[in-house]
Amino acid sequence: MAIAKPLLSDLASTVNYVPSNYIRPSSDRPNFSEVQTSDGFIPLFDLQGLDGPDRFSLIQDIGKACQDYGFFQVKNHGISKKLIDEMLRVSKEFFHLPESERLKNYSEDPMKTTRLSTSFNVKTEKASNWRDFLRLHCHPLEDYIQEWPSNPPSFRDVAGEYCRHTRGLALRLLEAISESLGLQREYINGALGKHGQHMAINYYPPCPQPELTYGLPGHKDPNVITILLQDDVPGLQVLQNGNWVAVKPIPYTFTVNIGDQLQVISNDRYKSVLHRAVVNSMEERISIPTFYCPSPDAVMGPAPPLADHHLHPPIYSNFTYSEYYKHFWNRGLATESCLDIFKKQETYHA
Ligand code: OGA
Ligand code: NI
Repeated sequence: MAIAKPLLSDLASTVNYVPSNYIRPSSDRPNFSEVQTSDGFIPLFDLQGLDGPDRFSLIQDIGKACQDYGFFQVKNHGISKKLIDEMLRVSKEFFHLPESERLKNYSEDPMKTTRLSTSFNVKTEKASNWRDFLRLHCHPLEDYIQEWPSNPPSFRDVAGEYCRHTRGLALRLLEAISESLGLQREYINGALGKHGQHMAINYYPPCPQPELTYGLPGHKDPNVITILLQDDVPGLQVLQNGNWVAVKPIPYTFTVNIGDQLQVISNDRYKSVLHRAVVNSMEERISIPTFYCPSPDAVMGPAPPLADHHLHPPIYSNFTYSEYYKHFWNRGLATESCLDIFKKQETYHA
């Protein structure tokens, strides 16, 4: 009897159809013919501008993108092409290791700080997603790097270096975003406790029937901001005005999106936006989101200057990031906001 393979990558290459547990109900499929492909619909910012006389106007543009799209892209972000290439290379090598080697890292427990897994949360979800992923906690790096895979041999060095750089980029972006909200430059930095940083390396194998399933269904990210690196294979789609729009990868740029915690801090001025990943029948795809987040003990709530009780009453009660985070993983990916249970109960309309 064949032994069930926990990882999709080891199953995908053996089937020419999508197994039934991956098939979505017909009302919840990618519907490719209705997806818009408009190049350049997400603003692309040159971050060199943050260090010069145009800082103020760039920050205003970033703020407008946060408000209007919840997404923007960045270039001249200070992370070298070489490091980006190496990060994509070790990631691909990892997923091409023999199954027995990869399985050493396998776990279905979302609270584990280093793990390889599949789909989203196999313990709670109804339909499976066409994805395997390696998820790593990355900050403070010294606390976690020893847990990371040691194969490929350069994995820890490259991914460690990559994490240090993406953390630097996240901190610069959070300063700019704080200012764009009219807050002190250091406000968000100070609101995240000891800070946290997670990284996923998503591996989407080719899929024989991509119209029946998702790599990741529509969801909003749980963290503060996400800095996404993708290879050159399209797959990311963002919901804009009720339509799904495909984001074409631009080499060596990052796609940044607002997560639920920034929605809370900004008291809904900036919204965490629905996005999803679709798969294709031709090529494997790798995407590497860096999830910049509060530390588990950090108390999240609207920034007081954005929650005056007259015009903008606070929409959320205070909660710890660990409360929210457990709820996020247990609930499963859903299009409804995960924030609803943290909303204040009162209604404000007199
Ligand atoms: C995610 C995500 C998008 C992608 O991992 O949260 O949205 O393109 N990924 O893989
Ligand atoms: Ni996401």
